[in-house]
Amino acid sequence: MAKDFVVTPWEVSGDINYNRLIKKFGIQKIDNTLLERIKKQTKDLHFYLKRKIFFAHRDMNWILDQYEKKNKFFLYTGRAPSGHTHLGHIIPWIFTKWLQDKFNTELWFQIPDDEKFLFKTNLTLDDTNHYAYENILDIIALGFKPKKTKIFLNTEYAKTMYPIALKISKKITFSTVKAVFGLKPENNIGTIFYTAMQSVPAVLPSILKEKNIPCLIPHAVDQDPHFKISRDIMPKLGWYKPASIQCRFLPPLTGSGKMSASDMQSTNTIFTIEYPEEVERKIKKYAFSGGQPTIQEHKEKGGNPEIDICYQYLSFFLDNDKKLQKIYYDYRTGAMLTSELKEITTKVINNFLKKHQKARIKAKSQIEKFMLRD
Ligand code: TRP
Repeated sequence: MAKDFVVTPWEVSGDINYNRLIKKFGIQKIDNTLLERIKKQTKDLHFYLKRKIFFAHRDMNWILDQYEKKNKFFLYTGRAPSGHTHLGHIIPWIFTKWLQDKFNTELWFQIPDDEKFLFKTNLTLDDTNHYAYENILDIIALGFKPKKTKIFLNTEYAKTMYPIALKISKKITFSTVKAVFGLKPENNIGTIFYTAMQSVPAVLPSILKEKNIPCLIPHAVDQDPHFKISRDIMPKLGWYKPASIQCRFLPPLTGSGKMSASDMQSTNTIFTIEYPEEVERKIKKYAFSGGQPTIQEHKEKGGNPEIDICYQYLSFFLDNDKKLQKIYYDYRTGAMLTSELKEITTKVINNFLKKHQKARIKAKSQIEKFMLRD
């Protein structure tokens, strides 16, 4: 029997059953009809959609209805700065960049430094500020359009955000927050208020531009509880409910759950600033393998790509469908050994990181083009 799993904004663990999660959260599966509808606008489909890495949504059909009526949406996503960026974090951002390009939309990128300060006992506000600006380099490195992308730290943009957060928070009861996030009497009172801050960007452009603008939030599925609350509140304040499109997690090197940045000994995690030799070492040493115990046995019985971490990483980082299929087949039949699969994966990830790290250095002089502050 599968181990039980947990998915909340503060904890992701166990073997996640995404179909059960869809039911539990009350979100919609992305089906082929929806994919066709998206494709009508975008001409091609990002491989994250084809491979169901983005697998669920709320109100995507409404977003497309509005778009077809020339009522264009904006994108909103975020990153709470608790440490260096790792490969798991950038999955939704890569997809967000694709959406920005295809729909030519604005993107509002929230950096809730307040969130990590409140929820992590060991982080000071100086730490969260430091990581915020490190993470922003990774965001900019992915190629978002400077003219259409706004990045802001909650503590630096508080004067604009706070009155909106107040209006939102007045509509959320303590019992809702307790029930949705499992907060306990011993949690600090900042954690109770925080979800109001995460709701703000879903209506911020509408408020600043004084017209109701549809909002689409690409995010990893663990954030859904926040936006479920936003969707309850916004109509009560006269704004649209935000829509969302949601992805699964990049698994940690050693197996189930999600990659975690708090894991600083980091045998589970590949950071974006990692050296190529370190990436190679980690994959060799830690990546959970779907191979057989001996080469002989592997050649006879074949490996299991479904549980193999390298194969899963390739499905997130190798966009060539034909190559991926061939790797699947060769590994499954035993023609490809685990060591070979690990070598390919190391190459693919290091290629990605080489480009990313170059762009990250360039990003240092670009930051001010993106920032919003009071
Ligand atoms: N809470 C998110 C995190 O822990 C950060 C975040 C803020 C976010 N706003 C968002 C994520 C909107 C996705 C979409 O990283």
